[in-house]
Amino acid sequence: MDNTVIVIGGNGFIGFSVIIELLRRKINVKYLDINWPEDQFRYDSVEYCIGDIWDNKFFQKALKGVSCVMDFVSTSMPNTNDISLNNEINNTLRYHDYILSTMNYCNISKYIFPSSGGAIYGNKEFGFAYETDVLRPTTPYGVGKQMTEEIIRYYYEKCGISACILRIGNVYGSPRIRSKAQGVIDVFIQNALRGEKITIWGNARSSVRDYIYLEDVAVSIADICQTDFNDLRIYNVGTGIGTNLMQIINLIEEKLGKEVQCDYKEFMASGINSIVLSNDKIANEIGWKAKVSLDEGIRRTIETKRSLLNV
Ligand SMILES: NC(=O)c1ccc[n+]([C@@H]2O[C@H](COP(=O)([O-])OP(=O)(O)OC[C@H]3O[C@@H](n4cnc5c(N)ncnc54)[C@H](O)[C@@H]3O)[C@@H](O)[C@H]2O)c1
Repeated sequence: MDNTVIVIGGNGFIGFSVIIELLRRKINVKYLDINWPEDQFRYDSVEYCIGDIWDNKFFQKALKGVSCVMDFVSTSMPNTNDISLNNEINNTLRYHDYILSTMNYCNISKYIFPSSGGAIYGNKEFGFAYETDVLRPTTPYGVGKQMTEEIIRYYYEKCGISACILRIGNVYGSPRIRSKAQGVIDVFIQNALRGEKITIWGNARSSVRDYIYLEDVAVSIADICQTDFNDLRIYNVGTGIGTNLMQIINLIEEKLGKEVQCDYKEFMASGINSIVLSNDKIANEIGWKAKVSLDEGIRRTIETKRSLLNV
């Protein structure tokens, strides 16, 4: 069997960094996205498949010679005021059924899926979230992830597609400037560097999340890819450390050496105060641990964005 990995959504926030880590390890990579990456991020050793994944002929052709599918196409956004599950049912679930049934048709039996550690457990004010906990998502995005995990279980049991589901924390530290920055830390830093106000939704002190540096996430995914799993696994991918928004603002101010302007707004889309992930399972079974501290990650992110924004 060929050892080529296809990264679907290779031009995205997570997919792009995963490709860099796979190339560092000399793993054969195919890139699938509706868009080309910017010129400076194209690599000779990568096979580029540019097109819409919903074009089944194109998708099947891209899957030729592939042994593992990593799926970083986003089908919905975490922060929405929507109550309805319409998008999750008609888009997210339909999408994953399509991906897994096409993989089954093409005899590909290894799948890596980024679920959400931040949205799938619900509120966890008293202690860590463990992979075995009952899931109580409070947003359509979280419910979509929970239902997708069920679809993955179904294809594992019915068709033998091995899968690794990663419940990832709140990711930050993109090495690129996109038209729309993703995640609170990237948005805060981008705004602060441009001298723009930072909008804080909800209570800055009680809103606690597990923030993880993008490079650490990419390493965890590459580590898993190199583990020859042939079962169904679920791992949290976080730091095990909870941080509130005020602490993030303070760190950014400290690194920039200046005060940042904040605009406080009373609103919380998710209704989740606190969520911190236990990483015991992935540490024990794969030997992966986050390496970059928040202090260091924010310092690096400011440095990268400073040079990209030329400020
Ligand atoms: N960003 C986070 O903090 C985070 C945390 C946990 C889980 N996740 C999950 O990771 C996954 C990737 O998230 P992201 O933030 O990197 O997403 P993203 O929006 O940055 O990237 C998605 C990529 O998919 C491509 N794409 C979209 N539709 C396509 C189509 N029809 N055909 C081909 N390509 C298409 C886009 O062009 C884009 O490059 C999502 O499932 C998300 O829920 C993200």
